[in-house]
Amino acid sequence: MTATNAIEIGEDGQAFDLNCFCVPKHYETDLEYVLIPYGVIQDRIERLARDIFQEFGQEPLTALCVLKGGYKFFSDLMDKINQLNCNQGQKSIPVSLDFIRLKSYENDQSSGQIQILGGDNLSTLKGRNVLIVEDIIDTGRTMVKLLSTLERYEPKSVRVASLLVKRREDNDRKPGFLPEYAGFIVPDKFVVGYALDYNEYFRDLNHICVISEEGIKKYSQ
Ligand code: IMP
Repeated sequence: MTATNAIEIGEDGQAFDLNCFCVPKHYETDLEYVLIPYGVIQDRIERLARDIFQEFGQEPLTALCVLKGGYKFFSDLMDKINQLNCNQGQKSIPVSLDFIRLKSYENDQSSGQIQILGGDNLSTLKGRNVLIVEDIIDTGRTMVKLLSTLERYEPKSVRVASLLVKRREDNDRKPGFLPEYAGFIVPDKFVVGYALDYNEYFRDLNHICVISEEGIKKYSQ
């Protein structure tokens, strides 16, 4: 199965004026525009939760959060799956939570090196259905590496949910990797907010926004 239902935001897609939304004062000059407002993110996650709920059987599921960028998506997705577990009558999926940290970027460029931090307890994934929950897929290298690492722990099945997937300029504007569940397919721009960071800044911003040149300069390491 592929993410056929993802919302595709075109190259000249909607760019919401920052002045029409509330953003933290300390970031006002560091952003170009709002790409995906917080409310739309929530509505999309509600539907992803429903798709996941319907497509998984009743077997227990391990949801694996990729920190730090995935934490808001993970938390909201789990809340919405829990609501379905409480309110959908007969069916309910027992979910256990796990966390992993990966490092692949320096400033706004892929370093080509991917480090997997943590993961001491990955042997608990043996025989489990695993749902990886990630913030954004860009080249896809991080996900390919993670999937091959997880394979060694012999899970029963592995699926990937990513809130965002980038169309790559260097790949005919196609994503480098398409997960089973994708929230939005976005243009090849550096985006921040809703836990996505630029050198650890902008996680405290609710909307997903395109960073400005000034923001890049200000927060470069
Ligand atoms: P990939 O290996 O190129 O797919 O990179 C995936 C990782 O890079 C994500 O988990 C993010 O941590 C980071 N990343 C890629 N693009 C962006 C972006 O536009 N904003 C923030 N982080 C990004």
